Amino acid sequence: MSPALAGAAPGQPVPLKVLHVAAEVFPLVKTGGLADVVAALPPALIAAGADVRLLVPGLPQMAQAIEQPRRVLDLGAQFGAGRVSLMLGRMPDTGVPVYFIDAPYLYRRGGGPYQDTRGQEWGDNLQRFALLGWVAAHLSAGELDPDWAPDVMHAHDWHAGMACAYVAGHPPTQAASVYTVHNLAYQGLFPTADFPWLGLSSRFMSPAGLEFHGQVSFMKAGLKFADRVTTVSPGYAREIATLEHGFGLDGVIRGRGTDVHGIINGIDESLWNPLTDPGIAQRFDAETVSAGKAACKRALQQEFGLDTKAAGPLCGLVSRLTSQKGLDLVLAALPALLQRGGQLVLQGNGDPSLEAAFRMAQQAHAGHVGVKLVYDEDLAHRVMAGADLVLVPSRFEPCGLTQMYAQRYGALPVVRRVGGLADTVVDATPETLAADQATGFMFDAASGHALEGAIHRACDVLVEPVTWQQMRRRAMACSFSWEGPAQQYLSLYREAIAARAAQPRGVPEG
Ligand code: ADP
Ligand code: GLC
Repeated sequence: MSPALAGAAPGQPVPLKVLHVAAEVFPLVKTGGLADVVAALPPALIAAGADVRLLVPGLPQMAQAIEQPRRVLDLGAQFGAGRVSLMLGRMPDTGVPVYFIDAPYLYRRGGGPYQDTRGQEWGDNLQRFALLGWVAAHLSAGELDPDWAPDVMHAHDWHAGMACAYVAGHPPTQAASVYTVHNLAYQGLFPTADFPWLGLSSRFMSPAGLEFHGQVSFMKAGLKFADRVTTVSPGYAREIATLEHGFGLDGVIRGRGTDVHGIINGIDESLWNPLTDPGIAQRFDAETVSAGKAACKRALQQEFGLDTKAAGPLCGLVSRLTSQKGLDLVLAALPALLQRGGQLVLQGNGDPSLEAAFRMAQQAHAGHVGVKLVYDEDLAHRVMAGADLVLVPSRFEPCGLTQMYAQRYGALPVVRRVGGLADTVVDATPETLAADQATGFMFDAASGHALEGAIHRACDVLVEPVTWQQMRRRAMACSFSWEGPAQQYLSLYREAIAARAAQPRGVPEG
């Protein structure tokens, strides 16, 4: 992928300048789909004519991999770090310009972006992510880089939420702000006693500001102070305004009314393409899918130590192991799957009790259940390529990417009818099958029994080769390109700029 790094050609309109602010970006730092989005959306916006840059914390993997880094400005001591600098380089592969904050005391350490190697949240996450927001706001005010300032600052998830509060608290800022919720379950909550670290007027520490049930909420900073709020599917946009899915913030979201938009994620269709994928056993497209998937299925069965049989559905699962993802439903539905001659491969890591449960399932059903408790990008491609079905039984799912990867690879998704899953899969019913629209199987209740029902329906279709082939081709033909979503973001940016010009969001009334 090589985006046209659009500058303003003579006679052309000046491109909209957009700064994306996030804690993760694939392939440098990734804990979930956020990183994929932050990697793929900027090139799509650039291809659509925008002038886009990224801002990320200088985590070790960022500082090592960002190409041609140069110092833009020394920022001195900030948020407890003795030495902070703003650097600018380029993303490997895409060449998208990327600022990173070099603050060794806060960012240069082992472990993950949010947690240490034992899975404990870093004790100074407030300072680490307040710094990210503070730099974003001052860059947006045109105070840090004499050569570039954005028209729109687009912050992702709680890690970047403070950027919106700092923009609101800094009146010279011209840039509009957009905040995207990728997952409302993770909110960035901190003790009130730490509020003074943020350097904001005490008026921000009120229910109209960052205060959330006696804590400081970075998620709320984004929701309250951004000129426009988005989330990653229309379905999840509706759900987060409800008590059931609002994680206590549904009132705040309803309060933003029509400022809240759902824009579905795309996927990087050049990276997730079975015809060009360098790591799968046999490449294929819709014409060669039967032979290609048969070879990939055999290779996957061998890799996971399963019986190499062609019949019966091989179900794949690539996931963080958390309660969100509904993996207990899979354990409950496993006997029914095995009884229908199915097999399961699970790739994922996280919750130790889920890890142990899947390890036990593997031992109990050797040859039929294979488990790899690892994080491995290449393996995820092989799972998509070899699986007949991909299970995504999430309790909630803001968008979800694996059901889209699955469809590209001719693996039919079995998903719960929730959030972005309901927006990206067409359930097989007599009507959708007759209209050649069906791409997967959906179920409603968050129960093993309901998942079992969907698995039975999938097994019934699997033994009807004509219908199976039809669904597989339909799924593979779906476009999940970023082109459409990028256009939607561009019009939202214009809306945010107009809203800010009409009435900037400022410090809460005292
Ligand atoms: P979430 O962001 O909630 O985890 P998504 O479906 O949006 O869910 O994105 C998950 C991303 O992480 C996908 O790109 C998926 O392939 C990847 N992923 C999850 N677990 C693993 C793993 N164990 N190894 C490799 N990739 C993984
Ligand atoms: C979050 C959500 C997931 C979404 C991803 C990218 O991690 O859990 O549903 O696809 O962000 O937006």
